[in-house]
Amino acid sequence: MLQLVYDSMTGNVRRFAQAVALDCGGTELLDLRQQAPAREFLLLTYTFGTGEVPLSTRKFLQTHGHLLRGVVASGSFHWGHNFARAADLIAAEYRVPVVAKLNKSGTAKDCQSVSTWLRSMNGTLD
Ligand SMILES: Cc1cc2nc3c(=O)[nH]c(=O)nc-3n(C[C@H](O)[C@H](O)[C@H](O)COP(=O)(O)O)c2cc1C
Repeated sequence: MLQLVYDSMTGNVRRFAQAVALDCGGTELLDLRQQAPAREFLLLTYTFGTGEVPLSTRKFLQTHGHLLRGVVASGSFHWGHNFARAADLIAAEYRVPVVAKLNKSGTAKDCQSVSTWLRSMNGTLD
């Protein structure tokens, strides 16, 4: 089963990750600033600077990127073409799918679609 690993500065990504974990009962949730993944994981992070990947996420991926299987990034619509761009950068560098892009802490529909993706991945891993 994939783990859920998140990076969050002001809480939007953490709230979304918690909602997905609740929806997929039994999925382990890790804060990448505090814990290391034990196996393959879905990363949930945010966009910082001007369409950039936060330094904390970049450093984490330098060590654990080989276990990355998909990425979700949060951002804010008002950033225009840089909206949630961290997802595109990570997906291209690590050759994984962009599972979702969230405005702030996302919607119930975002939560459902990420949960569905996670269950399909878990089905193939179990
Ligand atoms: C300094 C700063 C720069 C940001 N740059 C971007 C950006 O380039 N693109 C984007 O979509 N969102 C950007 N955001 C918005 C955050 O990615 C968004 O608020 C996100 O939900 C934060 O997640 P968190 O609450 O889990 O930390 C920026 C926010 C801050 C404070």
